[in-house]
Amino acid sequence: MRILILGANGQLGTACSQVLTGHELVQWTRADLDLVQLPDIETTLAEADPELIVNCAAYNLVDKAEQEPGRAYVVNALGPRRVAFFCQTHDIPFVHVSTDYVFGMEIDRSIPFSEEDKPGPLSAYGMSKLAGEYFVRNECDRHFVIRTCGLFGPTRLEGKGNFVETMLELAADQKALTVVNDQHCTPTYAFHLAEAIGKLIETENYGLYHATNHGATTWYDFALEIFKRMQIEIEVKPITSAQFARPAKRPGYSLLDCGKLTSVLGASLPDWQQGLQEYLDLRAQHAPVNGETI
Ligand SMILES: NC(=O)c1ccc[n+]([C@@H]2O[C@H](COP(=O)([O-])OP(=O)(O)OC[C@H]3O[C@@H](n4cnc5c(N)ncnc54)[C@H](OP(=O)(O)O)[C@@H]3O)[C@@H](O)[C@H]2O)c1
Repeated sequence: MRILILGANGQLGTACSQVLTGHELVQWTRADLDLVQLPDIETTLAEADPELIVNCAAYNLVDKAEQEPGRAYVVNALGPRRVAFFCQTHDIPFVHVSTDYVFGMEIDRSIPFSEEDKPGPLSAYGMSKLAGEYFVRNECDRHFVIRTCGLFGPTRLEGKGNFVETMLELAADQKALTVVNDQHCTPTYAFHLAEAIGKLIETENYGLYHATNHGATTWYDFALEIFKRMQIEIEVKPITSAQFARPAKRPGYSLLDCGKLTSVLGASLPDWQQGLQEYLDLRAQHAPVNGETI
């Protein structure tokens, strides 16, 4: 199958480019298709002549989106709407990726969210992603809309960060760190998600899915696990979200119930700790080469 990957340089785009190898892949970056160029999207997509599209591109700057919600809305909602319309017109499946940040308004929540739960985003980013989900589900019958959480993975872009890289960079020049301990989530290794996408597209079970690694943690406990596995001695103190004020509000609890995906694929994704170890192992193997980083 000829698969067009949008956002191919990002974390999930890089993983999909390496995992979906049984297919003919067309890997597009923003230079090939900018999702803000709304009038051009369908014409440009036609040039790739895809049989399936995986959209890994997104406006992911959660805090900055509070200052430029319009841009986030165009990239995360209006652009994907055009892509979904293209897929519907050409009768091809569309994989679109969304986020746990469509939840958060239920402040007392302590049970993982299923696909049936009503979303309630707290941020401009979350709202833009939720709007994108609705557009894609509405425009394209053959959609896989996949919500994930806390992605980490290698990218082709130098200096592109994720939580693991941020922690390791901070630990390189600080003796003590504070990390938020009241946001419950599931860090997810981009390669594991890409593998799940690879299996899902072999089915015709279209719909909305939750897809994260297995298990739960907080950013504080995730940081401790990173330092333990990297054998880094550093003092890490837990703090609250209120003590670490940021422009965008984050959910206090955004665990996703992945039971639907598990039943379709016959297995859940691995534990997040396994994802972390695989990422650290890969990171250890790869020194930067020709501008490529991990
Ligand atoms: N990262 C997370 O923790 C997380 C958590 C939950 C859900 N998600 C979702 O998972 C998906 C993949 O995330 P990721 O972490 O792989 O993202 P990423 O590493 O930030 O990659 C996103 C890609 O989108 C591209 N992009 C940005 N604006 C664009 C535009 N206007 N037109 C075309 N491409 C554009 C970026 O290109 P440039 O590099 O050129 O800007 C980048 O390569 C996204 O839908 C995201 O919302 C991510």
